[in-house]
Amino acid sequence: MVEFKQFYTSETISDLLVSLLSHTDVASCLELSAGEGALLDAILKRFSGIKITAIDIDNKNFHKLLEKYPEHRIFCCDSTHEELLDTLDGQLFDVAVCNPPFLSVSSNDYLRSIISRVFNYNVKTKKIRAEIIFLCINLLHLVPNGQLAIILPELFFSSDQYLWLRKALTEKYVINQIVECEHNSFVNTEAKTHIYHLVNRIPKKQHEFKITIKPNAFQGTKIIRLQDFVSKRHVETSTSFDDYFIIFRGKLSGKECKESSYPYFHTTSFNARFESFENSIEYSARKAQKNDILIARVGTRILGKTEVFLGNSAIVSDCIFCIRIFDASIREYFLNFWLQNRSDWLKNNAKGTCAKHISLYSVKELIESVICEYLSSEKSNKIFEIEKMLL
Ligand SMILES: C[S@@+](CC[C@H](N)C(=O)[O-])C[C@H]1O[C@@H](n2cnc3c(N)ncnc32)[C@H](O)[C@@H]1O
Repeated sequence: MVEFKQFYTSETISDLLVSLLSHTDVASCLELSAGEGALLDAILKRFSGIKITAIDIDNKNFHKLLEKYPEHRIFCCDSTHEELLDTLDGQLFDVAVCNPPFLSVSSNDYLRSIISRVFNYNVKTKKIRAEIIFLCINLLHLVPNGQLAIILPELFFSSDQYLWLRKALTEKYVINQIVECEHNSFVNTEAKTHIYHLVNRIPKKQHEFKITIKPNAFQGTKIIRLQDFVSKRHVETSTSFDDYFIIFRGKLSGKECKESSYPYFHTTSFNARFESFENSIEYSARKAQKNDILIARVGTRILGKTEVFLGNSAIVSDCIFCIRIFDASIREYFLNFWLQNRSDWLKNNAKGTCAKHISLYSVKELIESVICEYLSSEKSNKIFEIEKMLL
């Protein structure tokens, strides 16, 4: 059910999440949004004698969990509601695991008081991210030195808006590690996420921890100081491509594009040409510019179809990714690479069974790696030229 953000964790990510917990002697575990039990299966694999308390708001999941884990404590209730505190009745747990729903909930006195109790922070906004509530309730129910492994959205990792959260987290809890999850770890969602491994203990001032950014050729594990995490200096490596390209997906549906009466690119009009279109579009939609690369992101038959936009301005529909690579040589290099490798890449990266689609994150990753390849080949060409001159 999309309403409850029921995006379940894959077995690989569940195992990875549980492997972060460094306790060996674990008797109890809390799971506040258990779904169909992906994280619980991983916990039970690792700690066989453990006693679980699991909750889910959805009645169907509740019955599934009851059936799967008859010897554990399973509840059907809203983990963001005050009544949960009665359900848990002050029990503290050795470990907690969580992949909360990624959504916003309306603020109220109870939620504000929970955040203030855990993080000493007064929320003033009308909406609060549910993930923060799940984080707080988990932390409130850990024994001293108890451990939590929780999946949280990119937002908390890199947005200025959540500087307060990073600061409060680092002041009151030990962050052992943060692991970036691969883009395709979650079915049906494009969200980039991180697993936080936290310990219920006040950290020493000079505490450092490990951030594992997706391990590939140009990123990897690095040690980071708390102050750099709070001030976002850790994000630099992943945004260093901003000078090279931008990628976005259109906002309007095909129907809305059509009704706008402006020139537009949608999967049904992929062969349309706008070379001679001179109008500037005063429309709050995302627009393609001359030389942008347009790629169909959805549709089994049209998926990956590519056009270089030669007009001046056209709206891009929500079925299209628009890629703007600023440097003409890099653009050409990417385009060649894409057209040659497109079908293999789509085979490995397209998701979905009926309506095949590709995620913005996976395309972004591809562009980044092709740019890296371009830059390193440019560098070796330059070295080769210099060596030739020296001979
Ligand atoms: C992202 S899924 C994760 C499920 C499972 N832990 C996993 O990792 O596969 C979030 C789960 O939270 C449940 N949920 C959503 N809102 C909730 C709430 N307010 N209280 C308790 N569970 C909730 C949904 O039904 C869904 O099963």
